[in-house]
Amino acid sequence: MTTKAAGARRVYDLGPIGTISLGEGRTFRAGPAVIAVFRTRDGKLLAAQAACPHKGGPLADGIVGGGKVVCPLHGYSFDLATGEPVGNACPALKTYAVTVDESGEILLALDDVCQEAGARPG
Ligand code: FES
Repeated sequence: MTTKAAGARRVYDLGPIGTISLGEGRTFRAGPAVIAVFRTRDGKLLAAQAACPHKGGPLADGIVGGGKVVCPLHGYSFDLATGEPVGNACPALKTYAVTVDESGEILLALDDVCQEAGARPG
């Protein structure tokens, strides 16, 4: 994985889009964050926190459909574009900006945690 700093954001190259099948998700570590990237059946790429806010279920292993993911542990659903819970009272998922570059690499932009917190990188 390669990274590039862009102001207060860091861009992570997560590898080729072909590593995620249509209608599935995959978990990636990007710096301090663990992120689930989903590829919908209509080709959209969406990213959210990897752990379900209910009890930490692995969302990348959930069922993806209709713009939502269904957690594999207890079946709670979340809208992948907004992170909002669907039909449950869990907190919303944190979502992330993810794109594909001209060579088919998945790029994930994260705010630089050190700069946000005012800490110095060690
Ligand atoms: S851990 Fe995801 S619904 Fe319970």
